[in-house]
Amino acid sequence: MFFYPLLRSLLFYFDAELAHRITINLLKTYQIKNSIEHQSLRSNIFGLNFPNPVGLAAGFDKNSEVPKNIINLGFGFSEVGTVTPLPQKGNSKPRVFRLKNNQAIINRLGFNNDGFEIVKKRLGKIGKNNIGVNIGANKNSEDFINDYLKGIEFFSSVASYLTINISSPNTPGLRDLEAIENFSLLLNGIDELKTKSTGIKLPILIKISPDINQDDLEILCERVLSSSVDGLIISNTTISRYSIDSSEEGGLSGQPIFESSTSMLNKVYKYTEGKIPLVGVGGIDSAEKAYKKIKNGASLIQLYTGLVYKGPKLITEINKGLIKFIEKDGFKNISEAVGVEVN
Ligand SMILES: Cc1cc2nc3c(=O)[nH]c(=O)nc-3n(C[C@H](O)[C@H](O)[C@H](O)COP(=O)(O)O)c2cc1C
Repeated sequence: MFFYPLLRSLLFYFDAELAHRITINLLKTYQIKNSIEHQSLRSNIFGLNFPNPVGLAAGFDKNSEVPKNIINLGFGFSEVGTVTPLPQKGNSKPRVFRLKNNQAIINRLGFNNDGFEIVKKRLGKIGKNNIGVNIGANKNSEDFINDYLKGIEFFSSVASYLTINISSPNTPGLRDLEAIENFSLLLNGIDELKTKSTGIKLPILIKISPDINQDDLEILCERVLSSSVDGLIISNTTISRYSIDSSEEGGLSGQPIFESSTSMLNKVYKYTEGKIPLVGVGGIDSAEKAYKKIKNGASLIQLYTGLVYKGPKLITEINKGLIKFIEKDGFKNISEAVGVEVN
C-alpha cells in the first residue's frame, strides 16, 4: 500500500464517514494480501492462536462486511461490531470528525449497525477466523444487561470471542454499567451463561472506558478476577478533551489518548496481578507505541485511528518493529514482554 498517502488525500477530501464507506467498498473490491510470520509474534491467548498480536479495533467493520479482507491485510485478529439486537440508525450526521493536527478522531455514531440477525448470517458464511464480535445494547432497550446476555448466546456459534462493550460514550446510560453494582449484575449474568448447561465456552471480554471512576477501577478488577470473564479491553474512546480545541461531542480516539489509556492498562495489569489477558487499545500508531502497550500489560493490541492516518502499512510496520524490539530485549516470544514495565 505504498500509494496510501495519495489515497488518503483523496479520502480526506470527503466527510469522514463517507470516506470510511468508500474504504469498506475498496476492501470489498480489492484483496490486499499481507502476512508476517514469525515465531516470536505467535501466542495462544484465552485458548485462541494468534499469528501476531495486532488486531483491528471495533467500529471499523461494524457490520462484518469485510472481516476476511481485514485479516488478509496482516492483522492477527479483528473485532466486528458493535452490534445491537435490533438494527439501529445511530445519531444524526455529521457524527465523525477528523482532528488532523492531533492525529485524532471524535465520533458520536451511536451504534449505527445492521443488528444481530444480519451480522450473524454474514459471519456464519466465513467460519471462525480469529474474528470477535463486539456486542452492545439498543438505545431504547429497557434492559441493557439482557441485550448483552442475548448477544452472548446468539453469537457463540460464529464468533472466535465476544466483547461486552459497556464503554461507548454515545449511548446514554450505557456506561452506568461500569458502576460496581450494575457491573456485578452483568458479571453474574455472564457467569450463569458460562457455567450453566448452555455450554458457552468461547472467551468473553469486557471493554472498559478510560473515563471510569478511578476509585472503582480496583474493585471492578477484583470482581472480574472472581468471575468467569476471560479478559479486558482497555480502552474505548474518552469524553475528555485534554488540550484539544474542539466543541464536537463524542468519543475521542487516536494519539491524544495514548498516555491515559496506557496508564490505565498498567493499573489494570497491577490490579489483576497479570492473571487475565488484557487487550491494549488507544492511540497506537507505531511499533514503539504497540510495544509500550505490551510492556504495560497488553497480551494483544488493537488499533483504529492509527489506520486512518497511516494506512495498512502500519500493520506490517508494527509487526516488523515488534520482532526487532523482542529480539533486542533478549526475549524469544512476545509473551515474555507482557507487563515488564508494571511494578
Ligand atoms: C469512528 C469510530 C467508531 C468506533 N466504534 C466503536 C464501536 O462500535 N464499538 C467499540 O467498542 N469501539 C468503537 N470505537 C473505539 C475503538 O474501537 C477504540 O477503542 C478507540 O478508537 C481507541 O483506539 P484508537 O486510538 O486506536 O482509535 C470506535 C472508534 C472510532 C474512531
